[in-house]
Amino acid sequence: MKENDQELIDLDEDGRIKEEENKKDQQPKKNNYTFAIIASIIICIVICAGITAFKFYKKTNQIELIIVNDYDEMSLKAANIIAELIKKNPNAKLGLATGSTPIGTYNELIKKNKNKEISFKNITTFNLDEYIGLAKNHPQSYYTFMYENLFKHIDINIENTHLPKGEGDSKLNVENYENLLSKNKINLQILGVGRNGHIGFNEPGTDFNTGVHDVNLHNKTIADNARFFENDINKVPKKAITMGIRNILDAENIILIANGTNKADAIKNLMSNKADVNIPVTALNIHKGKVYVIIDKKAASKL
Ligand code: F6R
Repeated sequence: MKENDQELIDLDEDGRIKEEENKKDQQPKKNNYTFAIIASIIICIVICAGITAFKFYKKTNQIELIIVNDYDEMSLKAANIIAELIKKNPNAKLGLATGSTPIGTYNELIKKNKNKEISFKNITTFNLDEYIGLAKNHPQSYYTFMYENLFKHIDINIENTHLPKGEGDSKLNVENYENLLSKNKINLQILGVGRNGHIGFNEPGTDFNTGVHDVNLHNKTIADNARFFENDINKVPKKAITMGIRNILDAENIILIANGTNKADAIKNLMSNKADVNIPVTALNIHKGKVYVIIDKKAASKL
């Protein structure tokens, strides 16, 4: 009894202590709750950030932006991607562009062909556009451009090279080129971009659903191209036949190359993730395949 009393007394006396100990026991539980709440909040934040990042990634994953130092590096990068495709698929169908931007890329491809790294024997090509009203062999026709800057230097079968026709019945030429494209899926389309964001000769305002068509060139484009016509605007053709944006977007994958500060606005618009008919290049933001955007530092200066 005494002992029990003692025990009771001890218990009574310890009661306070016990309570305090209980409080101490409850402390870790409280800490556990706080920890659980903080952990849940962190998990929620991580999940939300993950979902947002995934959405952003899904929206932009088709564009791989590659910024390089200069034109030469841009040309080599683009040529390497084209060469990899040709090695994987020696029967590949390439979409080609004219203008000053792709000349370096073509030079790199010529080197790779000459050193036997790649062969164009079974490659088929489709150009974006051609001036209307210039004879095929006119020094400034896009056919002559392609022949002089690429075709004559590589082992391609010239019959496998295609450009829209700029001479003769325009309506028929449009139909024929559209037909040809509908039978040939382009594996990789090479694109330059105009100052005003045009691709091919798809000038601002062109519906993204447009197929091959004739166009009246914009004054900006005529002025830009005068350098190839002894700087005489009057000598520049005013019309062209071009793949439409729908034809361009039909390509499996796309490489867009651009250099120089005069392309910086077009690139800024492209990378803003919008798709605006007034800036044709932004159509690439709705392309389903992969888009490589290879640009020099100057073209990237407004990003
Ligand atoms: C040419 C073409 C055009 C050019 C554009 C940029 O086939 O499709 O869209 O890519 O006018 O021209 P450059 O490269 O001369 O600045």
